[in-house]
Amino acid sequence: VHVLDDRPSGTGYLTAAANGHDGAWAVPPNRLGRRALELAREEIGGLDGRALAARVLSAPLPTGVGNRVRAAVLRASGMQVGAGTSVLGAIRVTGGSRASTRLTIGRQCFVNVGCHFDATVGIAIGDRVSIGQHVLMTTSSHDFALAGGRGGPLLHAPIRVEDGAWIAARAVLLPGVTVGQGAVVSAGAVVTRSVPAHTMVGGVPAKPIRDLPT
Ligand SMILES: CC(C)(COP(=O)(O)OP(=O)(O)OC[C@H]1O[C@@H](n2cnc3c(N)ncnc32)[C@H](O)[C@@H]1OP(=O)(O)O)[C@@H](O)C(=O)NCCC(=O)NCCS
Repeated sequence: VHVLDDRPSGTGYLTAAANGHDGAWAVPPNRLGRRALELAREEIGGLDGRALAARVLSAPLPTGVGNRVRAAVLRASGMQVGAGTSVLGAIRVTGGSRASTRLTIGRQCFVNVGCHFDATVGIAIGDRVSIGQHVLMTTSSHDFALAGGRGGPLLHAPIRVEDGAWIAARAVLLPGVTVGQGAVVSAGAVVTRSVPAHTMVGGVPAKPIRDLPT
């Protein structure tokens, strides 16, 4: 038996059999229809129509061109993006079919290319926030209590980035953190704890580097 996955549907995980594993089906034939429906739900249940529409509509724009138009397209597709915000490339929003409604980007922000917002719960970005290339903000983690499958049920906690902060390239913000007003998260940092206002942090895990003048 290769179908051992007891994770709730909709998490985006497939069973071994569904992944094309060479094991035999563990589901009796009279349950195949229901299983097929479950698989279909797993495959497309996380579709976020707004995020998809925004990606498709802004796809013709070359990277770094039409940055405010791209922000306007995100806004028009139902995301909360403040006036004067520039978005340099397609953003990736994951976290279920309503993920893009849980992402808020304030006014006069700057979002560089390749950013990924995993918004299973809220991600709130204030005003005048700069976000560098390939930043990842994720609100989800796994319960790792089960020895047989450490990536267990999803756990969620919101993220907040306050006004005037700078999140530098390839930084990762983990669930539940707040980056305080005017703080700087250095390139490549993994932020596991909230960052006080006007503080520069860096490293893995991110630690204070110095206080910044106000
Ligand atoms: C955060 C940053 C601006 C700091 O610059 P700075 O003030 O000139 O910092 P310094 O070079 O004086 O370094 C200060 C200390 O922080 C450390 N540090 C700097 N950047 C770091 C980083 N990304 N990760 C970990 N530590 C870092 C330095 O090693 C130094 O430590 P030390 O005092 O023990 O030697 C810069 O390092 C950085 O990360 N820039 C991001 C660039 C980027 O993402 N560009 C994209 C544009 S959106």
